[in-house]
Amino acid sequence: MSTPDAYAKIRLDGRRLIVTGGGSGMGREAAILFAGRGAKVTIADVNVAGGEETLATITERGGQAQFVKVDLTVEPEVENLVATAVETFGGLDGAFNNAGIIGPAQPLADLTLEDWQKVIAINETSVFLSMKHEIRALLPAGGAIVNTVSTAGRFGYPNLPAYVASKHGALGITRQAALDYAPRGIRINAVLPGSTLTPLASAAMEDPEIAAVAAKAQPIGRLGEPGEIAEVAAFLLSDAASFVVGADFYVDGGVSVNP
Ligand SMILES: NC(=O)c1ccc[n+]([C@@H]2O[C@H](COP(=O)([O-])OP(=O)(O)OC[C@H]3O[C@@H](n4cnc5c(N)ncnc54)[C@H](O)[C@@H]3O)[C@@H](O)[C@H]2O)c1
Repeated sequence: MSTPDAYAKIRLDGRRLIVTGGGSGMGREAAILFAGRGAKVTIADVNVAGGEETLATITERGGQAQFVKVDLTVEPEVENLVATAVETFGGLDGAFNNAGIIGPAQPLADLTLEDWQKVIAINETSVFLSMKHEIRALLPAGGAIVNTVSTAGRFGYPNLPAYVASKHGALGITRQAALDYAPRGIRINAVLPGSTLTPLASAAMEDPEIAAVAAKAQPIGRLGEPGEIAEVAAFLLSDAASFVVGADFYVDGGVSVNP
């Protein structure tokens, strides 16, 4: 879907930004869009091929970026990610903490502890670890953080116990950190996408029960495009959102109106 011209007015010139999960889906679209609006982007992902593909696209279009391989559930790797971003671009102005997985589609009684812990680690603990180290780098000059949650951060969905719990947790820590750091010059917000056409969603849509719920649930009558989430993340990271703090920003085609 093409970007309405009005949105192109949201600029990120010179902003030094980290995008986690930048090797695929929404993170890739966001990294490309941010760089296209003038940001210097550190693409972070555990998937090297995906991260390098995003980097190549940005570079081909004349943007500035680097790729850092990172497992966001491992604290020293997250610390290294932030240090590398700061070192390469001379500081940090913001981050889009967006990496995530859906995990197996199973009712709670069938879910293994291992699968539960993996989803919580990637979707919730990684948001804590990322914010912890990003905030330390942002404190001297201020900045903005956007965390990708999901409508599953507010509502239940069948067969996704760990995903729903992890996203509720990610929204909780977003709101909590927003309060602690708003007075210190860091705005922290959440985007809550509805079902969006990315590799992650395709995996979930293989479960017919989930696909049926997603199709019926979006009043706009279609799934979202990753660029539509990236546009809102760009807005929240920009000065246009200077008074937006701790918001649950639904980007869901209306699904949250009557969940
Ligand atoms: N697609 C949807 O319908 C939808 C809806 C609501 C919320 N979301 C959320 O949006 C975010 C992006 O999802 P997407 O649909 O673009 O998925 P995606 O699978 O296309 O991309 C996710 C990226 O995160 C990376 N990643 C996973 N674990 C990681 C780790 N431990 N360390 C570093 N990187 C890791 C993956 O390698 C991948 O590149 C996720 O947080 C997801 O939960 C997606």
